[in-house]
Amino acid sequence: DWTMAEFRDTKIAEIRAQVGTGRVICGLSGGVDSAVAAVLIHEAIGEQLTCVYVDHGLMRAGESEQVVSLFRGAYNIPLIHVNVEELFLGGLAGITDPELKRKFIGKTFIDVFDAEAKKLGGAEFLAQGTLYPDVIESVSFTGGPSVTIKSHHNVGGLPERMNMKLVEPLRELFKDEVRALGRELGLPEIFVGRHPFPGPGLAIRIPGEVTKERCDILRKADAIYLEEIRAAGLYDTIWQAFAVLLPVRSVGVMGDGRTYDNVLALRAVTSTDGMTAQAFQFPGDFLPRVATRIINEVKGINRVTYDYTSKPPGTIEWE
Ligand code: XMP
Repeated sequence: DWTMAEFRDTKIAEIRAQVGTGRVICGLSGGVDSAVAAVLIHEAIGEQLTCVYVDHGLMRAGESEQVVSLFRGAYNIPLIHVNVEELFLGGLAGITDPELKRKFIGKTFIDVFDAEAKKLGGAEFLAQGTLYPDVIESVSFTGGPSVTIKSHHNVGGLPERMNMKLVEPLRELFKDEVRALGRELGLPEIFVGRHPFPGPGLAIRIPGEVTKERCDILRKADAIYLEEIRAAGLYDTIWQAFAVLLPVRSVGVMGDGRTYDNVLALRAVTSTDGMTAQAFQFPGDFLPRVATRIINEVKGINRVTYDYTSKPPGTIEWE
């Protein structure tokens, strides 16, 4: 009978065998996958692991602070926090195509990693929290011949120049199994139960050009939405919930005046592995209440819509 405790022990042995006395760098994304991978690898090889958190400025409200305090504080895992918001926002200026956003972000991530690895005096291994669905979906669609839907920056494409070998202990796991493993490793529930968050972050939740101003508007609206979901006790029944800041402006009225502001889409889906998904049906007056709060509290948004699209034919993210 297969248990998470056995899986953990097997993986720890495998990591030790693969890595030997080598140094490992692990990129943290703020999500469950990289956190679980890092804690597992830290159990296996301790101080041979250094975590690097590339803070691209495309995270949600408060998220970077949480990552830093969990790793440095609770786990005492060496963590380098690289704040490169300006580098990312500068490079994203003028880019509107979703795949070009991903390519820029993926490439820049690797550049920053490369620089950090060099500063550390080099590392032989790069650890990633790649999951099974990442592995298959970025290769092909329903088994067809290499039709890429979305390039996931955390899969493959590691430039030869980095000359690092990959350590990917979660490659066989689905999301629910990663969560079980995280609990097995003692990660706090707030981290383990966290909804998946894409590597390119808010950049792919802002169709059109990504700017600091648009990131800030989206962060505020998204925080209100998630706060209300948690307060209603719905967070754990939803696979992913997030807001998307649309490149559309609409006319509204506020007091005596006319407004002409951004439109926000709210999305919430249920899923077991992210491969298929259904729109979550919120009870009663939940959505109108959240819409009102967002419009009242977030300057720059005057209209809120809800996305009922399933996957397929839609995808979970808008880009
Ligand atoms: P889609 O939108 O393809 O998303 O239905 C499926 C799952 O993958 C996440 N996602 C990404 N994760 N890099 C990532 O690390 C990406 O480029 C990316 N695009 C989508 C998405 O949030 C969902 O959980």
